[in-house]
Amino acid sequence: LDNGLALTPPLGWMSWQRFRCITDCVNYPNDCISDQLFRDTADRMAEDGYLEAGYEYLIIDDCWLANERDSDGRLQPNADRFPNGIKDLADYIHSKGLKFGIYEDIGTNTCAGYPGINGQYEIDANTFAEWGVDYIKVDGCYEDTEGMEDKYAQFGDYLNQTERPIVYSCSFPAYKGLEANYTAAVEICNLWRNYGDIQDQWDDVKNIANWFATNQGFLNKFAGPGHWNDPDMLIIGDYGLSYDESIAQMTIWTVMAAPLLMSVDLRKIEPEFRDILLNSDALSINQDVLGIPGLLAWNNGNVRIWTKPILPQVDDKHSYAFGIVNYENGGSPHVVEFTLDEFGLDNADGYTIKNVFEPSDPVTVSVTEPIRISVNPSGAALLQVNPVAPSHATSLL
Ligand code: GLA
Repeated sequence: LDNGLALTPPLGWMSWQRFRCITDCVNYPNDCISDQLFRDTADRMAEDGYLEAGYEYLIIDDCWLANERDSDGRLQPNADRFPNGIKDLADYIHSKGLKFGIYEDIGTNTCAGYPGINGQYEIDANTFAEWGVDYIKVDGCYEDTEGMEDKYAQFGDYLNQTERPIVYSCSFPAYKGLEANYTAAVEICNLWRNYGDIQDQWDDVKNIANWFATNQGFLNKFAGPGHWNDPDMLIIGDYGLSYDESIAQMTIWTVMAAPLLMSVDLRKIEPEFRDILLNSDALSINQDVLGIPGLLAWNNGNVRIWTKPILPQVDDKHSYAFGIVNYENGGSPHVVEFTLDEFGLDNADGYTIKNVFEPSDPVTVSVTEPIRISVNPSGAALLQVNPVAPSHATSLL
């Protein structure tokens, strides 16, 4: 969507994967979908380095709504869990320097059963703009897949008419599969879910990565500045991924140019997981302004390597990110060996290589020199590979 937004993949936090539809604040006072959860999360994002690293959107997912619209037909939040209303919460989030996102559904109901937009495009777009919404995820439950694109387009038109800059996340590709009108998605939406929901487990990281890789020839061409494929949230710091698996998810999502939407309890996250999320080299690769999604370029079953062209360039030679993932879950690390020319890199003066999650001094290699790297089982290495500039002889003649 050409609205000047999401020129790099959105970075933020979204409630769904970790906090689901917990509405019982008596038994789950810290986990329920409530004003307090989002204020606490805003504090953590602003104070613990996430905002500074680029994670700017704080997004409320499903289960914030009351069961009915108000007497004027407007959407309203559950009054017990959001006693101050949404505008007041949005003001608080904005006061921390963050942007505010929310969830709705194009159909009669949200996926969890709350009132959907259901044709009330104008009134709902205006409500969101009045509340100060900066990002909206519009789901596709309880709606015919036939003609879904038109409904998303109509709602998008009303969002544009509010003149408030609002990142528009669509879900029709996830509901229609590869039959969806992806050209329309690029025009209508800033990002879109393509595939099923991530659950808190390594199998889902692999399954999602495999699906995107299998379909990369079709999908990658639709992604770029202002319009992104969305493989779903990061589950780093939750219950399901080990430290190595977390590096693997961060690596794959980074090289895919995916939106990075954390879904974790930021009040409790362990420092080693926080460090993965805040890795500045990984974030700068993900946020590279060229916005080119990486390709799975090497697959020998256990070891898979994605490559993503990035800046800086020396003459016509790009830098690259290499995401090397070891799918093996047997006991020991695997030593992967390759040369850069096997991946089509051809800078005559060679490249410097930085191992992003194992900081040490960058090494310089020619394109034919073998590179050996040890990758842990169900783990990954993320490399930043930069062309060396030709050295020009100084002449005083
Ligand atoms: C769908 C979406 C999820 C989440 C839930 C909320 O399953 O794919 O990301 O928004 O609905 O009910």
